[in-house]
Amino acid sequence: MTTGSVTVGVVGAGAMGRGIAQVAAVAGHRVVLSDAREGAVHVAHDAIRSALAREVSKGRMDQARADDVLARLELAETTSRELDAFRDCGIVIEAVVEDLSTKQTLFRALEGVVARDAILATNTSSLSIAALGGATGHADRVIGMHFFNPAPLMALVEIVPAITTAADVTARTDALASAWGKTSVVATDTPGFIVNRVARPFYGESLRILEEGLADVATIDWAMRDVGGFRMGPFELMDFIGNDVNLAVTSSVFEGFFFDPRYRPSLTQRRLVEAGLLGRKRERGYYDYRAGAAAPEPRRDRGLAERIVERVVAMLINEAVDAVRLRVASPADVELAMTKGVNYPRGLLAWGDRIGPASVLATLDGLQSEYGEDRYRPSPLLRASVRDQRPLLG
Ligand SMILES: NC(=O)c1ccc[n+]([C@@H]2O[C@H](COP(=O)([O-])OP(=O)(O)OC[C@H]3O[C@@H](n4cnc5c(N)ncnc54)[C@H](O)[C@@H]3O)[C@@H](O)[C@H]2O)c1
Repeated sequence: MTTGSVTVGVVGAGAMGRGIAQVAAVAGHRVVLSDAREGAVHVAHDAIRSALAREVSKGRMDQARADDVLARLELAETTSRELDAFRDCGIVIEAVVEDLSTKQTLFRALEGVVARDAILATNTSSLSIAALGGATGHADRVIGMHFFNPAPLMALVEIVPAITTAADVTARTDALASAWGKTSVVATDTPGFIVNRVARPFYGESLRILEEGLADVATIDWAMRDVGGFRMGPFELMDFIGNDVNLAVTSSVFEGFFFDPRYRPSLTQRRLVEAGLLGRKRERGYYDYRAGAAAPEPRRDRGLAERIVERVVAMLINEAVDAVRLRVASPADVELAMTKGVNYPRGLLAWGDRIGPASVLATLDGLQSEYGEDRYRPSPLLRASVRDQRPLLG
């Protein structure tokens, strides 16, 4: 499969599907974009046209190229029973609603249409790739291709083979993502893949600190930005993502790990969601975004900020180390995923080496003995690294 020569199918023309279609068309592919909802592909086409116009106005693309990109986009209105438009596709990426049976039905129908060597890729954030592959007759060609929002701007793509995925399918999908200018990382088919798993404590531990009254929302956000170096604080980021979406990801990872307390969702967050305080999209979340609302002032206490950052970052490093231990991804890919997928200021393993693995371990041991909770258990690999004096990023 050479880049540009293969026709790319994208099913689902929502926020993600339209972005993925744009990426593939800009990379030179003919793209078939479909959606089951009437008019949705035209809305998506207008959005892609506007996005390209912005590129032209900023001098990053000339008008002739933008016209070519749009000319390579073919729109189709489809249901699961009418998928003929995808007949010539070498790869079809689905970005339909996050529902297992909808995606399984779609893949089953697609395999009756595409060639035997065509790849069926899913952009799912939380479903098992094995469960999607298992619903088809040829699970060897089913793979996860997880883009981040907005797909044209975010560099990272997680490539997620299931235990049933053929090695050449992984290699071809990975090569395609690289040819599209993306940074690709390979993750095992485990809950949250890399980013949505390793990032959980950024939210979860910050919520614990809030619930215990150690600091308020504005102070924690200020600490994580100004002392931690993160682009956004956890609460402003949750308000941006949507508290409902963030809770759904946490709940899905928690269930996916058979209710491991390390990933337990927060009651505070659930109450916010129940009350409709979903974040920016509803003008209220942890913060009040309505006109005239005053922004709360943080308590600029440097010592407190350092304690907050130390605790949250130790939990993040522990999660990254444990993902390496359980072979979710290579150390290099864990570093890439967190810096390119969620723009962390540095890779978490490198961060652990900078702080010192012994110091990270001491923070976690301290928390575990204080709270007596399994949530704070240090990764055996962190313990072994300290014992053997090995760096985390070997
Ligand atoms: N939004 C994100 O930040 C994000 C990031 C990474 C991955 N994802 C994943 O991408 C997928 C899509 O998410 P989204 O945010 O673009 O959703 P969205 O609601 O914006 O778009 C989904 C689209 O799929 C269409 N659709 C639903 N069922 C269909 C079917 N059977 N056939 C064809 N079209 C169908 C809908 O009409 C809708 O236009 C989900 O699996 C989600 O988990 C989302």
